[in-house]
This record gives sequence, C-alpha cells and structure tokens, in this order.
Amino acid sequence: MSKNAVVVGAQWGDEGKGKVVDSLAEHFDIVARYQGGANAGHTVVVGGKKFILQLLPSGILRPGKTAVIGNGVVVDPLSLLKELDAIEKAGIEVGDRLRISDRCHLILPYHRTHEAAAEQARGVGKIGTTAKGIGPTYEDKAGRRGLRACDLRDPEVFRRKCHEVAADKNRLATALFPNVQPLGDEMIEQYLAAASRMVPYLVNVSAFLNAEMQNGRRILFEGAQGTLLDLDHGTYPFVTSSSAAAGGASTGTGVGPTRLGAVVGVSKAYATRVGEGPFPTEIEGPDQARVRELGEEYGTTTGRERRCGWLDLVALRYAVRVNGIDQLALTKLDVLSEFAELPVCTRYRLRDGSETEDFPAHQSDCHHCEPVYETLPGWEQPLDSLTDVSELPAAARGYVELIEQRLGVEVCLIGTGRERERVLQRVA
Ligand code: IMP
Repeated sequence: MSKNAVVVGAQWGDEGKGKVVDSLAEHFDIVARYQGGANAGHTVVVGGKKFILQLLPSGILRPGKTAVIGNGVVVDPLSLLKELDAIEKAGIEVGDRLRISDRCHLILPYHRTHEAAAEQARGVGKIGTTAKGIGPTYEDKAGRRGLRACDLRDPEVFRRKCHEVAADKNRLATALFPNVQPLGDEMIEQYLAAASRMVPYLVNVSAFLNAEMQNGRRILFEGAQGTLLDLDHGTYPFVTSSSAAAGGASTGTGVGPTRLGAVVGVSKAYATRVGEGPFPTEIEGPDQARVRELGEEYGTTTGRERRCGWLDLVALRYAVRVNGIDQLALTKLDVLSEFAELPVCTRYRLRDGSETEDFPAHQSDCHHCEPVYETLPGWEQPLDSLTDVSELPAAARGYVELIEQRLGVEVCLIGTGRERERVLQRVA
C-alpha cells in the first residue's frame, strides 16, 4: 500500500469504517478525520471492551498513534470532551496524541435546536437527520458567519461574536420557529467554559500533517458517513452536509490531493441506510428484519433501526468511480452466513423500462428504479473460526470474486465478526 491512504465509506455510512481504520492503523502513524461531526458513530471492540467513537478518529485507541481532527470536521466541544473523558476513564491515555484543527467550525447549542425545528417543519419531506446540529453548522460555515475553534483562543472576542450571532439566530428562530428556546447569556458562558478545554489541542493541521509527512510519517485519512451521503455525490437532498467522498480528505485536512495516497473503500457485504431517502435494494419481507437482527443494525449515534438491503453493485460501482477506490474492504460477510440464496443487484430498471448500470442523479429515478438481481448461492456455515482467506467456503469466495469482477477492484480485507481479530487480510 502506498505511503498514505484514505478510508472512505462506499455506501450510506455505517459500513464498518471504524473497524477497518482500527485494523489498518497498525501500519500508519497518524489517523486524521476529515469531515462530518458527532453524527458519525464508530464502534470498535478491543479486548472485549466496546468503544463508541463519534468525533475522535479510531486511531486514538491504538497506543502510540496520533489522532487528528481536520478542518473539515464540525466540532461540538461538549460531545468531544464527553468522549475524551469516557476513553480516558476506560484506561486509554490521550496526552499529546490528539490534535484538532484550529479552523474547525464549532457546533453551538442553537444549531441543534434549529435543526430539530427545521426537520419538524419539513414534515413528510424530512431528511431524518441525526439531530446533532451538523447541517446548520455547515450552513453557517458556507454563509461565512460560523465560529471556529481558533476563536476560542481569545475568550473576549469569542464571547462578543457568540452574543452577536446568538442575537441574530434568536431573532430568526422566534420568527420562524416559535418553540425554539433562545440562546441566553448563561448558556454562552457554560459553553465557553467547556469549549476552552479544547484549546490545548488546537494546531494548524495542514502544517502539522505536511511536516509529519516530511519526517516520513504515514497518514491514514478517515472519512465519516459514506459516498451516497456526500453533499455533491450522494442521494441529494437526502444526504449529509459535508464532503464524505475521498476528495474531502484533501480540503478537510489541508493535505494536497497528490499526497493522499491509495483510496480504500469500505462496504458491507449487504447494504444499510439510516434516515429517509432512496434505497433501491431495500429488502421487502421478513429477510429485512433477519438481516437487521443478525447484523445488529441499529444506529450507533441515534439507536434508530437501520433499513437493510441486498448488496447493490450499481451504487458500489458509482462509489468506486467517484472516490477512485483502489481496494475494497468488505465488512460483515458473516452476517450473510445463514442465507441459502443471496441476491446481488447488478442493474437498475428505470421507470421507462430501460436498464442502467449507472447510479441516477435524479431523486425520482432513485426512488422509483427497480433493482435487477442475480442470485448467488449462500454458504450456510459460520465464518467465525476462519483465520485465512483460503479457508472461506467456496460460495463465500464466489460472492467476493463476483464483487471484484464487477467492480474491477481487489477486496483487501474481509470482516467476519465484531472483534478486532475477525478480519481476513487478502492483500499485504
Ligand atoms: P445529518 O448528517 O445529521 O445531517 O443527517 C443527514 C443524513 O445522513 C441522515 O439520513 C442521517 O441518518 C445520515 N447520517 C449521518 N451520519 C451518519 C452516519 O454516520 N451513518 C449513517 N448515516 C448517517
């Protein structure tokens, strides 16, 4: 693998990127998160202990590795500190292994309340967001009125900016959403007191990462959510508000695109989606609940049931192109072990009866297309005791090979269970 690498979700998020990053992190010195916020949820199981990370890059769980939060991430200081306290309590020492970009935009309390009100106002057209204030924070960033982590370095200026923006927000909120609680002085002071704990971690991440590369250190760029939730390339408007695709790694950290290295896409062996929006291969009938139970498909961040579907090669082919994926990590293959037959979607049939292998741009085409399936035999035996790819049952190997053939990429990792060790490596 080249010196640096980007790990990107190839579906609608929740592909198991945390586990893949955790597994690859062994070969890298630094893990840098490039977008999103506490809407993400990475579950990593180490030594029987389950860790849920929302903002912190999973690399923080490996002693000696540096974890970086890039400028493309939106940070809620209160949830960051809660997460830090929780992992330190579990015996993971953070010390100077964490660096946060001083250019990160901050999630303020009104971002959450405004989001909740806006979602409610959308009614049936709601996006089904995680309610963490992500969208409104990126809106303020693009609107050039956001507050950034570096503003915390001067509490007086921060306080002033906060009061100014809160006055504006409160005016708007009272006009649009009568139920929204205005942001008062006391809340601003509480927020400032907590947020100032972030200051010692702040650095110029672009300068830090580029200097580290000069010293021969290897960086793993970690994306949150997935390609089909990307603001530009996803199933708009049912997307998140950031650049989840691999290109976001460059703008989200200040490392030039020529330095990013290989791109590793992560996909489940089937598909899931949380929240609203088109999902062509969503399973109809009892197999949906069966996959959910077997895969424990409940949101890490919100606890919501994930919608479950069969593997969608149209969507994956699109993700391979948009991200320039070199290798694919295939997670949760073990979840399919109980099925006698496994449908795999290879084309979509559109409303006019034509068939396509291309992921459509228009929301209505995505909503109304019918997946065309090829059915593969299942292997119907557990995979948890396997230690090498060569031990995979023939049908499981066939499933993996079909993916490789149709996408034109190698499958480099295969996930066969929750534990850190339950990963079969195919490519060194
Ligand atoms: P937001 O990111 O909270 O604005 O939510 C926008 C959409 O992205 C919703 O459909 C969420 O369910 C989805 N989403 C956000 N973060 C994740 C994630 O980490 N995994 C899966 N879906 C997510």
